[in-house]
Amino acid sequence: MQTRASETNTAAAAAAAVVNPNKALWEKGDFTRIAGFMRESGEAVVKSLGITPDLRALDLGCGDGTTALPLASAGADVLGIDIARNLVEAGNRRAAANGLHRLKFQEGDACDLRGVPDDSFDLTLSVFGAMFAPKPFDVAREMVRVTKPGGRIVMGNWIPDDPTFVSQVLKVSSAFTPPPPEGFISPMTWGVESHITERFSRAGVPAEKISMVKDTYYFASADKTPADFIDLFEVYYGPTMNAVEAARKNGKEHELHSQLVELANAHNKSGNVGTLIPATFMRVTVQA
Ligand SMILES: C[S@@+](CC[C@H](N)C(=O)[O-])C[C@H]1O[C@@H](n2cnc3c(N)ncnc32)[C@H](O)[C@@H]1O
Repeated sequence: MQTRASETNTAAAAAAAVVNPNKALWEKGDFTRIAGFMRESGEAVVKSLGITPDLRALDLGCGDGTTALPLASAGADVLGIDIARNLVEAGNRRAAANGLHRLKFQEGDACDLRGVPDDSFDLTLSVFGAMFAPKPFDVAREMVRVTKPGGRIVMGNWIPDDPTFVSQVLKVSSAFTPPPPEGFISPMTWGVESHITERFSRAGVPAEKISMVKDTYYFASADKTPADFIDLFEVYYGPTMNAVEAARKNGKEHELHSQLVELANAHNKSGNVGTLIPATFMRVTVQA
């Protein structure tokens, strides 16, 4: 017969066993350190959206608010949802520090936005966020469900096999990482037109209401070099951290590091000591 203490231990072990790997991946690092390079492009994306003060917006996979803060600064009433607790906390700290009272961050999973009522938002924005959730058909369905009829969904998604920076970082990193579990759907499929159309069509959106265009994001820093930027990726960016750990076990850590630094230097357009690295992404707009 089990004692009460052993029952408690069993329950704790069971809870630990059901760790969500998607959540663990993003809580493992500290994406705020990478996001520091993304602020200007986040502001540019928001500026292009024509935000009006009466607008209610969801930023899904918002991180610490690279696009959520500019949305709120432009006057929108904003909810940021992210799976990583540390990033939600960082977002709420940034909102308070900037006096943005119509901006709240909360934990949630893009695959299942339980607790978020239907038809809540005029704009659902997800810039390199929802693409990382593991069930893309559920994600599309949830984004459509919570967006008001007549509202907009806007996604920024990296593109597989694109020659520009992020796609190449992920490609190099995956070459050093063990293969993903069976049934894993690559986040990069969110950068492929046929997949995007299929996912939103299944969520009830006709193809003519889905548009896609390639756009450019910039990773920028006035004083950090491309090599500094790679150091941050290796220490704070979950997917790269996993690649570094796997490479270390195989004695290939230096090989991975030099490939990443070479990549960052080759893509750097800054004329001085800093970093200015462009990366192409797929900008998806869905009229709900
Ligand atoms: C590359 S970061 C981008 C963050 C932010 N959008 C930005 O531009 O700075 C990816 C974000 O997606 C979040 N994310 C990953 N899977 C998620 C899921 N299933 N539901 C909600 N957020 C998720 C991560 O925690 C992380 O903050």
